[in-house]
Amino acid sequence: MATRSLTGIKPTGEVHLGNYIGAIKPALTFAKQPGLESFYFIANAHGLTKITDSEEMRQLTRGIAATWLALGLDPDKSVFYRQSDVPEVFELSWLLACMAPKGLLNRAHAYKAAVDENKAAGKEADAGVNMGLFTYPILMAADILLFQPDVVPVGRDQIQHIEIARDVARQFNHIFGDVFKQPHVHIEEKVAVLPGLDGRKMSKSYGNTIPLFSEANELQRLVNRIKTDSLPPEAPKDPETSNLFTLYKEFAGPRQVEAMQARFAEGIGWGEVKKELYWAIDEFMSEPRRRYNELLASPEVDRLLAEGAERARAYSQPFLQEIKKAVGL
Ligand code: ADP
Ligand code: TRP
Repeated sequence: MATRSLTGIKPTGEVHLGNYIGAIKPALTFAKQPGLESFYFIANAHGLTKITDSEEMRQLTRGIAATWLALGLDPDKSVFYRQSDVPEVFELSWLLACMAPKGLLNRAHAYKAAVDENKAAGKEADAGVNMGLFTYPILMAADILLFQPDVVPVGRDQIQHIEIARDVARQFNHIFGDVFKQPHVHIEEKVAVLPGLDGRKMSKSYGNTIPLFSEANELQRLVNRIKTDSLPPEAPKDPETSNLFTLYKEFAGPRQVEAMQARFAEGIGWGEVKKELYWAIDEFMSEPRRRYNELLASPEVDRLLAEGAERARAYSQPFLQEIKKAVGL
């Protein structure tokens, strides 16, 4: 039997090169394993704990779907859908809520962090915390358990959520019999961390990002802003300590990377490296960028997501019936 993987993608605004190298690319590579059946969905209902502008929500959801499709997600090989198009998720979420000890959720990182921050600021513990944030891990458990995946590939920050899904599944099975399979977490160990314009980790929160689909001019302008040291052009340079090289090796071909290493050893000016880096990223992204813009302008994304939802529901509808039968609803 095929192994099944499932992962959720939160709709976020600006997707940057770091997100691509650290999260999107490894997830797409993971899905290519032979014999693996993969499910990807846009976790728009999870986004609702933060995004409260309806137009923004629609645009972010479509944008992130177009991003993944443009970067190579194959909707024929994967089941690709919007969480909100699969209402069984929300029904299951309630059933699981009734099995989940409140104390378990009190300990969830995101909630705990909000409480700690409030306390430190002398505010009431739950100030500004909505129930969506508090029960976030239950909705996530429903996303997962409804499709019975063997593996859930996620970033490290999500490990606790998978553990909660496992705990809730165990509790449910203990009461109602063997209904759910225990999902396993998969963490990609060797992903590169890309530096941003100022040399710190590229991150939205530092405002040092290069957006994934920057147009050529903007891309060039941003690459030119990347911080370097003040070594003169002719001085030999160490590629291992260069942010420009760290970026270059993710986007240039292996032969180009080797050639660049040699030029570092001989001495190459930073301006020259920036020009090469800009070309490499621009070339790498030109086709995905074209495809992204094309997808955004056409109804294709919506059609693909609707088809994906239909395929997802072919699993979720009959399984939810079984689950409801197990609890006597
Ligand atoms: P940000 O730090 O910009 O807010 P997120 O926290 O939304 O990014 O990260 C989404 C995903 O992208 C996570 O899996 C994270 O590990 C990955 N990621 C974010 N920034 C980088 C980076 N600079 N290098 C590699 N991966 C990154
Ligand atoms: N919480 C995940 C994140 O913030 C997104 C997510 C929602 C998810 N449901 C999921 C991931 C189910 C894996 C499986 O990135």
